[in-house]
Amino acid sequence: MTLQQKVQAQFQAAFGAAPAFIVRAPGRVNLIGEHTDYNDGFVMPLAIARATYIALRPRADGIVKAISLDMRQRRAFALDALQPPTAPAWSDYLGGVAWALQERGYVLKGWDGVISGDVPIGSGLSSSAALELAAARAFYCVSNFEWAAVPMALACQAAENEWLGVNCGIMDQLISAAGIEDRALLIDCRSLELQAVPLPAGTVVVILDTNTRRGLVDSKYNERRQQCEAAARHFGAAALRDVDAGAFAARAQELDPITRARARHVISENARVLNARAAMLANDAETLGKLMIASHISLRDDFEVSSPALDAIVDCANDDPNCFGARMTGAGFGGCAVALVRAAAADSFAERLRACYRSASGHEAAIAITRASRGAETVFP
Ligand code: GLA
Repeated sequence: MTLQQKVQAQFQAAFGAAPAFIVRAPGRVNLIGEHTDYNDGFVMPLAIARATYIALRPRADGIVKAISLDMRQRRAFALDALQPPTAPAWSDYLGGVAWALQERGYVLKGWDGVISGDVPIGSGLSSSAALELAAARAFYCVSNFEWAAVPMALACQAAENEWLGVNCGIMDQLISAAGIEDRALLIDCRSLELQAVPLPAGTVVVILDTNTRRGLVDSKYNERRQQCEAAARHFGAAALRDVDAGAFAARAQELDPITRARARHVISENARVLNARAAMLANDAETLGKLMIASHISLRDDFEVSSPALDAIVDCANDDPNCFGARMTGAGFGGCAVALVRAAAADSFAERLRACYRSASGHEAAIAITRASRGAETVFP
């Protein structure tokens, strides 16, 4: 049974009628451009096949009644009495999106819904953005406002920043909103311009889950943001996006070693994303792979957001002759890596990787060969 069939059947069982709509919004994997989005820089994510689905029907009374099949819980809230959460639960993502949309002047209706998803939570594949965009799409279906990816992503990011208290950038929400089948998206996180970029012919993107999850990610993430902001201030720049390699080299020794290393990562990573675009447009998998390898080294040594498990899985991948390059993906400290692999050899790559990672780390890897999927959409009717 697909997830779509599952939410449809469970909606029928819970509400005694067929749903009026079914929506989905995907998770994402980032090919290159890590910890650059909140520096107004460049990222190159793709939306993945794993997604959150909601089957729903409109209500006339401004109430949202939602059932999470994965959490085995039902929750209800009124759109005119939203309360900011102290310890956010899944239903606060729905409430947060409703709050952010209403703040922006959207007039919302309520709904009955059944939710389920297969983006693993806490793995760095943006299950929270998938839930937020699915919620936004659900409100869109019943409330009849205009849908556009950028304003929806901004509203969902505001929900995350201001309602849920997570200080993320725009990447995850925007790729979940705007993903394109078989394409990565180059996102300029300042202008929010998007460019669809094809993957090199004969390659596949493989997600390598270390099966490790780290706590304290939020506090370390916020600390990195502050270090980047301090570095930008030192250069008199609005963001590290505005500091190029030459300007950085001229004054880098004025910075303390940690701030210098953080800035060096962001500035070099922005350049790598633009070089990655050029390589992809030239169908040059070798160069793209080398840029991914360099990105990982920079995240490991300069930005210090990798982990022993991530380093082990990335080293295993990079030692494989059928892998062009691999790196950690997402915020880091655990979760997933991403590899660009020769399509014809992806299955044997996965087999070797499992064995290599097991002997290096003692953990079992979860490996998924993925295709770029569409962003948030209505799949029924
Ligand atoms: C998390 C955040 C994103 C981005 C990445 C790191 O996924 O939600 O906004 O900052 O980390 O690139």
